[in-house]
Amino acid sequence: MTGVHPAWLPRDVDDSIVLTRDPDCGLGEEGYTIARAGGVTTVVAAGEPGLMYGAFHALRLREDCPAATHRPAKARRVMQHWDNVFVHPVMGQVERGYSGGSVFWEDGALTADLDRVSDYARLLAATGINLVSVNNVNVHAGEARLLTDRLGEVAALAGRFRQYHIRVLLSVSFASPVTLGGLGTADPCDPAVREWWAAAARRVYAVIPDFGGFVVKADSEGQPGPFAYGRTHADGANALAAALAPFGGDVYWRAFVYNHRQDWRDRSTDRARAAFDHFSPLDGQFADNVILQVKHGPIDFQPREPVSPVLLGMAATRLAVEFQATQEYTGQQRHVCYLPPMWSAVLSAVADRVDAVVTVSNVGEDPYWTGHPLAQANLYAAGRLAWDPALDPIALLDEWIRLTFPDAAAGVLHALMDSSWAVYESYTAPLGVGFMVKPGHHYGPDVDGYEYSPWGTYHFADRDGVGVDRTVATGTGFCGQYPPPWSARYESLETCPDELLLFFHHVPYSHVLHSGTTVIQHIYDIHFAGAAAVTEMRRRWDALPPALVGEGLHARVGELLAEQERSAVEWRDQINTYFFRKSGVPDALGRRIH
Ligand code: GCU
Repeated sequence: MTGVHPAWLPRDVDDSIVLTRDPDCGLGEEGYTIARAGGVTTVVAAGEPGLMYGAFHALRLREDCPAATHRPAKARRVMQHWDNVFVHPVMGQVERGYSGGSVFWEDGALTADLDRVSDYARLLAATGINLVSVNNVNVHAGEARLLTDRLGEVAALAGRFRQYHIRVLLSVSFASPVTLGGLGTADPCDPAVREWWAAAARRVYAVIPDFGGFVVKADSEGQPGPFAYGRTHADGANALAAALAPFGGDVYWRAFVYNHRQDWRDRSTDRARAAFDHFSPLDGQFADNVILQVKHGPIDFQPREPVSPVLLGMAATRLAVEFQATQEYTGQQRHVCYLPPMWSAVLSAVADRVDAVVTVSNVGEDPYWTGHPLAQANLYAAGRLAWDPALDPIALLDEWIRLTFPDAAAGVLHALMDSSWAVYESYTAPLGVGFMVKPGHHYGPDVDGYEYSPWGTYHFADRDGVGVDRTVATGTGFCGQYPPPWSARYESLETCPDELLLFFHHVPYSHVLHSGTTVIQHIYDIHFAGAAAVTEMRRRWDALPPALVGEGLHARVGELLAEQERSAVEWRDQINTYFFRKSGVPDALGRRIH
């Protein structure tokens, strides 16, 4: 280690790592060259961020290797928190948080433990993340004030993150000019409103010169937005963007806009269509520093969804893809569910089209950071995939296992995790149908829980069949939002992949899948197989010597696997029983259905 001793320097760096600054190396701010020979690793970079990323890379390396150059595929690699400052009566300290309280906020105040924030910053930097938002996209009244009189607390967090070259973002309320500024309107075209946002931005940059920008959830699930003033989302986003532009900040404007007060009887409205219907007419109208942040699927982070057509269709708009590491619909960090194979499949379609990769964090004050210790792998891979979307998600899993556990435990961990998403999917909602979770908290099965609700998430199961007809020919027309070849592929029963069949089509239970089995028999088979796979996971973990991974961690994962097994059996029995009662078709193998 020569010459530099900055705060980010990994504690475990010694003389076997040589960091060299070369301002003329031409690798940009964050790029670096790394080589390892004779046990010594050499990193060359133009400046501190590159040296830092190179140093973390050096810690990952075991084998000697020739010189290679690394540069991030995306300049914006974002982790977003849904953390409330005040404990929310329904959502708690962290909305959809499954890892205890917030790392940033505690019961209305900034955390007293800023050193843990530094540890978190280090952890994120080691994965490649360089932007973090510190509060929930649902901005309640108290949290809105982070933009004004509580800005000092955001600055304190920014100070910790800055040491690891991470810039801070703030979720803001679109109604701030009214609720905080006392104006009579938040109309984005009103000059006084625009000046209010400009002044707010000036105050932010006076104390956080490297501030990253705003995250905005507008006209979505009750949050205020431009529709109230007859303005478009381009008008709204551009007003905030104009305030940030002089300082180099961005607006992350969420595309998660849909009617959450739908009448379930109304078959003409399709929630899957909403984002594209709202935003595609605005393509080309957003300011340069607006990034339209789009959930990876058209509905809401279900275990299986097709890629959002917004990500395939808005060529004249800067886009971000949004993933959810916090396992709202995928087992709530009580179930093992390694999600990067899902994310990687999305990225293979959209990586070239997006400017930013955003992940909703799964971190809290839990000693293991993520509640379920194995959920750390999702956090780790989220950063690594944002840096390089082409990385193999299973190789990343092995990388995380190797960095976290002794080699002797690696085989069991790999076997438990590599297909855990597929296992989770197999005992929950079948064939891409989605939303069979308990309403509200979204844990565990309730097949009709959302069927007659206003949320627009229906499966339409009856005695003859199941699924949503989203075809152009006979359904909601959602398939037509895709460009070729996706549109034709999803429209046709012949080419629609089995795993998305019920997302795009309503079919009889007797419909024969590409796999050769009927829909109803598939539902039975996959649910029996999924629950059995969890039993096998638990058995393998229980057979692992606790001392190998640490007694505390072994016990925690063991307890969670027991809960996952209980829950998987519950899912299996409710889903199988429901469809047996609806269809009257017995299981061909005569297994027990209640
Ligand atoms: C889901 C989730 C909410 C969240 C919302 C969002 O609907 O259940 O808690 O606020 O997504 O992404 O804005």
